[in-house]
Amino acid sequence: MLGEIQDLKAEALRELAEIGQEPQLEDWRVTYLGKKGALTRVVRGIGALPPADRPAAGAVINDVKEALQTAFEDKRLALREAALRLSLQHEQIDITLPGRPVELGRRHPTTQILDEIFAALVPMGFQIVEGPEVEWDYYNFQALNIPEDHPARDMWDTLWITPEGEHGRRPMLLRTHTSPMQVRTMEKTKPPVRVIVPGKVYRYEAIDPSHESMFYQVEGLAVDEGITLADLKGTLYELAKRLFGEERRVRFRVDYFPFVEPGVEMAIDCFACRGTGCRLCKGTGWIEILGAGMVHPNVLRGVGYDPDRYSGFAFGLGPERIAMLKYGIDDIRLFYANDLRFLRQFP
Ligand code: PHE
Repeated sequence: MLGEIQDLKAEALRELAEIGQEPQLEDWRVTYLGKKGALTRVVRGIGALPPADRPAAGAVINDVKEALQTAFEDKRLALREAALRLSLQHEQIDITLPGRPVELGRRHPTTQILDEIFAALVPMGFQIVEGPEVEWDYYNFQALNIPEDHPARDMWDTLWITPEGEHGRRPMLLRTHTSPMQVRTMEKTKPPVRVIVPGKVYRYEAIDPSHESMFYQVEGLAVDEGITLADLKGTLYELAKRLFGEERRVRFRVDYFPFVEPGVEMAIDCFACRGTGCRLCKGTGWIEILGAGMVHPNVLRGVGYDPDRYSGFAFGLGPERIAMLKYGIDDIRLFYANDLRFLRQFP
């Protein structure tokens, strides 16, 4: 019987060595180590031995059983490792491959200038407010001291939504400037008022390097007791220095806007020709960057402010113009053409 067991062991180990896949390994286990397997059959045979030989035979059988079990476990581990190694080889990821580049977006040059304007004026106490781009004729013109049929309306080529002066309907338009927000703000607030109003404005324009049909403005308004033209100049000079640096030259001249009196225009020396005159500055050496003035008494009266007690200044500037000056851009049409070659140049 002992010889039979040793043969069984040798046979089992030989078969095991040849196994290459897990399902066969399981078959092998059932065949040799299973409840109805070969080893169990041998164990049953112990009963036929003389009692004195039984313990020795039992010990040998146990040894063989343990040896087979160990061999089985080893084989199982070896097969799993081999399978793992194979799948790692097949599914290998090449970590030396360069990653896909992530494109970073940038802030639009207009946004950058708006942020600079806010950074200069908010610490002075101006609050940022916004208003509608579709506006009533009343706010865009009438309440700003520009009645119907007033020749000053020609200063703003207007995109009308409902016709000007049409009977029975309030005329509606795309705001030509952010100044209507002067009126809307004062209607809602008692003085003192200090606001800046960024937003889009629209003009019925012949498009060229310095004219677009849509662009941005930032309106400024400060109303209180005792505000003078000196406050206006001081505020705007500080703003100009913040935007263009201390050494930039600034010029104030009298200008006309129906809703201010007196009205002024602030200009800055032309970056392209440094003042000698070129196409961009139309030969003058100066580029107007904003209109401003002291709020007209009629406008104050219209919103219920007493012009004998309160005075204020207002200004309106175009951030694209400022970006053109700062970055040397010679064509305003580049701003909203969505050409990434242009937009990517602003870090
Ligand atoms: N709204 C004027 C324009 O669009 C600019 C302006 C604003 C002038 C405020 C004076 C005061 O041209």
